[in-house]
Amino acid sequence: MRPSVLGSAMRPSASPLVSRISMLSRPSHSSRRCLSHQATATPAPAPAPVPVQPARAISQLLKWKPEQNVDNVVVHGYVRSVRGLKAWRFVSLADGSSLDPLQAVIESGLAEGLTVGAAVRLTGSWVASPGAAQSHELQVREVKVLGSSDAKTFPIQKKYQTPEYLRTLPHLRPRTPLNALLLRLRSEAVTSLTQFFARQDFVQTHPPIITSSDCEGAGEVFTLNPANDTAGQPGKESADSQDSFFRSKKYLTVSTQLHLEALAQSVGNVWTLSPVFRAEQSDTSRHLSEFYMLEAEMSFVDDMNSVMDLAEDMMRQLGTDLYQSDTVKSLLTRTPHFGQDLAPAEEVDRRWQGLMQPDWPRITYTEAIDILKQHEDKFEHKPVWGAGLQSEHEKFIASTVGKDRPVFVTNYPRDIKAFYMRPTRGPGSEDPSRVTVDCFDLLVPELCEIAGGSMREHQLEPLLDIMTRQGIIKSPSETASEDDSGNGLQWYADLRRWGCPPHGGFGLGFDRLLSYLSGVQTVRDIVSFPRWYGRCDC
Ligand code: 4AD
Ligand code: MG
Repeated sequence: MRPSVLGSAMRPSASPLVSRISMLSRPSHSSRRCLSHQATATPAPAPAPVPVQPARAISQLLKWKPEQNVDNVVVHGYVRSVRGLKAWRFVSLADGSSLDPLQAVIESGLAEGLTVGAAVRLTGSWVASPGAAQSHELQVREVKVLGSSDAKTFPIQKKYQTPEYLRTLPHLRPRTPLNALLLRLRSEAVTSLTQFFARQDFVQTHPPIITSSDCEGAGEVFTLNPANDTAGQPGKESADSQDSFFRSKKYLTVSTQLHLEALAQSVGNVWTLSPVFRAEQSDTSRHLSEFYMLEAEMSFVDDMNSVMDLAEDMMRQLGTDLYQSDTVKSLLTRTPHFGQDLAPAEEVDRRWQGLMQPDWPRITYTEAIDILKQHEDKFEHKPVWGAGLQSEHEKFIASTVGKDRPVFVTNYPRDIKAFYMRPTRGPGSEDPSRVTVDCFDLLVPELCEIAGGSMREHQLEPLLDIMTRQGIIKSPSETASEDDSGNGLQWYADLRRWGCPPHGGFGLGFDRLLSYLSGVQTVRDIVSFPRWYGRCDC
């Protein structure tokens, strides 16, 4: 007999159950053939066999609603749950391609090894389902367990599990429905961005990860040494001695900008999406030690508005490309899998809408300070011209000036920004105590800064001058020496010696952007294997 185990949640009324019983009791194609063979002396010509179909993604199957049963459908996936104890099992099968699992109905005799977590291949008929939870289901005739699973010890459960707990299992966490969805979001975002830059004739490049300098000059670099390198150990010579692997100190890149500038002098406009590394001891929901930065550099550009236009157009295109996608639709649906972990759907929807809006506000740092001063009492840190904006300030500017649109804050004081930024020229820049640079931070509510960019100082003398004043080199002549003193930046100064046009670019914190657009509350949960101060689990 057919299942009496149909869950009440799946049983809208008695009649679908009846139709399920009659449907599943119906002889299958092959058994019908067999019956007719027994009943007649002269067998009818055998019908052409139904070819076994290539395995389909579950997302495709769930959209496929044929009126007739379709035999020989093959699907690969992982068992998310198994219900039913007697004659039939109801298996929820997931393959990471959709939030919703596929329902497979399997005779108990075939269900051996179908335990939670197992990797399986199921073959059967794709038939209309009497259950309310799905339009179709797989009536299975063949089961192949391709990777067994000990369900008793498998730590990923169908029930809700907290982000903190899942973070302790970074190697298994990607198998949860939300994390699979986030992997798809990342992949689709990369596709959209790649297409955007290709359409704009930007050249995608691969700048190095190992560098000889701290690009941002903030002292947040990780140094790099071979495990068996004795140089630099107590009693030995320092790590930048002749004995060390690279014969001088090397680092993991904090930003590929400086190398991108060199490449932009070859092919014009360039971009990259690269891993970068920062040894920041910031224990916040916005900081990782390893993250992806999307960086673009434009050549022969003098007006910083062109760089901001590029960043804005790029992100608007991303919004337009993805907003209607199944992935974003799933993100905006709140299912029990998500618990309270994501920002509310309406909030996330507003973020996408904001991204697609035109004309993002652009205000100067000085204007931002003036606005903040009018609301001074709201802040723990007093806004002061010359000091960096605190995250409470950035949040206020983002939510009041931008509303739902991201906001560009431009022209910060030179003393709080990186050495390579070009000083602001023109009216308003005469006061020597208030020198600013052509730079911008892009702010969004909650997450604050998601991108930063600037015009680069493209002239040799002013660059050497600021490097000297910031203590990066001892004197302007230092970078001309052959022995690559000048903190490993001799080559960077060289770029200014031979044909360096005005240029500028930006870096977007790719993981911060994805966490903003998904509603995931911390960047630690938007990357599969997060690394942050004190944690690098596998
Ligand atoms: O503002 P940043 O430091 O800019 C640069 O590195 C420039 N050299 C980029 C360029 O002009 N090509 O970093 C860019 C972005 C930030 O706006 C932020 O979104 C992100 O990188 N970011 C981080 N994301 C996660 N964890 C961290 N520790 C981050 N530090 C910066
Ligand atoms: Mg910045």
